[in-house]
Formats: sequence, C-alpha cells, structure tokens
Amino acid sequence: MSLSREASGYFFLMNTLTIGTDIFKELFTPEEIQSRVKAIAREIEQDMAGETPILMGVMKGALIFLTDVLREIQAVDVEVDYVRLKSYGNNEVSSGTVEMVHAPSSVLAGRDVVIVEDIIDSGQTMNFLRPKILEAGAKSVRVATLLYKSEVARLNTPAEYIGFSIPNNFVIGYGLDYRQLKRNLRSIYYKV
Ligand code: IMP
Ligand code: MG
Repeated sequence: MSLSREASGYFFLMNTLTIGTDIFKELFTPEEIQSRVKAIAREIEQDMAGETPILMGVMKGALIFLTDVLREIQAVDVEVDYVRLKSYGNNEVSSGTVEMVHAPSSVLAGRDVVIVEDIIDSGQTMNFLRPKILEAGAKSVRVATLLYKSEVARLNTPAEYIGFSIPNNFVIGYGLDYRQLKRNLRSIYYKV
C-alpha cells in the first residue's frame, strides 16, 4: 500500500485523510457500505411487500444513502420525498434544537413512510421527526439509518433498519459533511 508523508514527518497509510489539523481514518469502504445498503433494501422490500412506501430522505446528509437505497429497491414500487432538518449548524456537537427547513411535499395521510437518515447521533432529530410524520397521518413510519452512534443515541422509538453501529466519533463522507464539505468522499471516515 502506498504511503503519504505529512509535513510533521509522520507517515500515514493511504486511507488516512488530513483536513487542517484534524486526522480522519477510513471506517467503511464503498464496498462495505454497498453491502449494508443492499441488505437494508432487501429488508424494506420484505416489510413493504404489496405496499407503495414513500422513502423520506433527511437532507442533506442522507442524499447519497437515499439514492443508493432507492436504486437498490426493485421488488416494490416506491415514491421519494425529502425533508430538510437542521440540528447542527457548523458544529460537531448537537446544537440542541431541531428545525424543519423544508417539509414533505407529498400527502402523507394513509401512507407507509420510511425515513432515510445518514446518522443517528443524540437521537433528537429522529425523536422530532418520527412523531411529525405520524401527526401528518402516515399509516406507518419506519426509520432506516446508515449509521447509529449506539453509545450516545437516546431514541424514543428504536430505528427499524441500521447499517452500522459506530463509536461516538465525528464521521464524514458518503453524504456526511465537515463544514458542508467532504460529502463527496466515497468512503466513510472517522475523526481520530
Ligand atoms: P442527532 O439529532 O444528534 O441524532 O443528529 C442527527 C444529525 O446530525 C444527522 O442527521 C447528521 O446530519 C448530523 N450528524 C450527527 N453526527 C454527525 C457526524 O458525526 N458527522 C456529520 N454529521 C453528523
Ligand atoms: Mg442527517
């Protein structure tokens, strides 16, 4: 494997990323991510057999996970919608409030909704969103999250589909941002 050399003189493996003074290491490869995406899509297909669910992406972090899960679901018809929620600003810790910046555009009454989220951290975003979807009259609500910070997450209702449980490190890539950047990384990296 090739090595890159930092100005400080330390050697890093190629799967290490340096942003400013922060060091990130690869946590999941694109192949590992896709295998979990496929497994979650299969579960959704089974649970939603005969139904036409709405995949409700939580923008912006879930945008890549949403489109990958969407393309992987073939056994049932599926609609797509999205909400934009904000709980973080530019900080790496939760700001303590959740704001709906963009509401769903579809009529949710009587529908099966699968919320598609990039990561559950404190859980406050999901604790806010799940009841909102039910209040809008959805017949059922499920939550699919690619990442789940099991040590810190406090969910009122457990998530139905989890890609990976991860430790309480800040992560970037595959839709997850670092100050709005790095969503385009194909792997997921954690801050060391
Ligand atoms: P929660 O409300 O604390 O569960 O945070 C959920 C939201 O915060 C997610 O939808 C992400 O957009 C963002 N977030 C939480 N942890 C991270 C992280 O490690 N990297 C990037 N974004 C994160
Ligand atoms: Mg998110």
